Amino acid sequence: MRAGLLRTSLLPGLTLANPVLSASGCYNHGVEGARFGDVKRLGALVTKTVTPRPRAGNPPPRLWETSAGMLNSIGLENPGVERFLAEEMPRALELGPPVILNVGGESLEEFEQVTERVQDCGAVALEVNLSCPNVQGGQLPFATSPAACEEVVGRVRRVSRLPFFVKLSPNTHLVADVARAAASAGADGLTLINTLHGRGIDWRRRRPCLAEGSGGLSGPAIKPVALHFVALVRAAVRLPILGVGGIATAEDVCEFLVAGASAVQVGTAHFLDPLCGVHIVEELEELLVAEGESIDNLSSLEQ
Ligand code: SIN
Repeated sequence: MRAGLLRTSLLPGLTLANPVLSASGCYNHGVEGARFGDVKRLGALVTKTVTPRPRAGNPPPRLWETSAGMLNSIGLENPGVERFLAEEMPRALELGPPVILNVGGESLEEFEQVTERVQDCGAVALEVNLSCPNVQGGQLPFATSPAACEEVVGRVRRVSRLPFFVKLSPNTHLVADVARAAASAGADGLTLINTLHGRGIDWRRRRPCLAEGSGGLSGPAIKPVALHFVALVRAAVRLPILGVGGIATAEDVCEFLVAGASAVQVGTAHFLDPLCGVHIVEELEELLVAEGESIDNLSSLEQ
């Protein structure tokens, strides 16, 4: 291990040991992954979305493997912010990597309320999830309208002393406009992409594979879509971007950095290998040394 080779300056005052993070939702709070090995080497853990009140989530089946990825319709199941702070956040903090806490809600008031409540919980930053396709009938009100995005991000900005990333959706033709709205309302960074609307069909039973009908597609199938939106948004706004979508190797990480991401999140690949993110960190170090490259050279954002 070469000290400092992977060091990643994400935001003013927030430098990570490396640019490989776990993605929200695919690693819960990191505790399950830690049962398989040491997750300390991840650049940061990004927790599953927490909302002001507990949510039971959607009925099963709510996960479905596809030919090149996975459909999910979890519906933001979580224990609610109070139980999360009392029971789960302390365990996440014990694992070692800095924690980026993902928050969500269904209204302006809920986003404000949950953001205010988590300010002193030990997270280094927040990720504000505007883009879950599995709630509110998949309508994504805050992620598809620049005006609605600006309003909710402004409300979060007013109550947040912590820096925050806004997680955007690919399920709109207004991605760049929504990104600009988030930037003008005070977001410190952006995460993209969340999952694409998708559906599996069990034709013999004349039924969708997921109980809810449609869900969100993730995994290798969406990597080119994610690279497209990272590049598009990089050209539109000058905020740091966390790239996510189908990342499973160190080569994938380099592609996202060149497209314009400052760091990346590994999601669905953790279902195949719970230590995938950690292995990518090791591979990335070897790859950069072999190629005579550095994180700064690949990442196009001037700090
Ligand atoms: C879910 O809980 O349904 C997925 C979360 C997300 O896509 O934001």
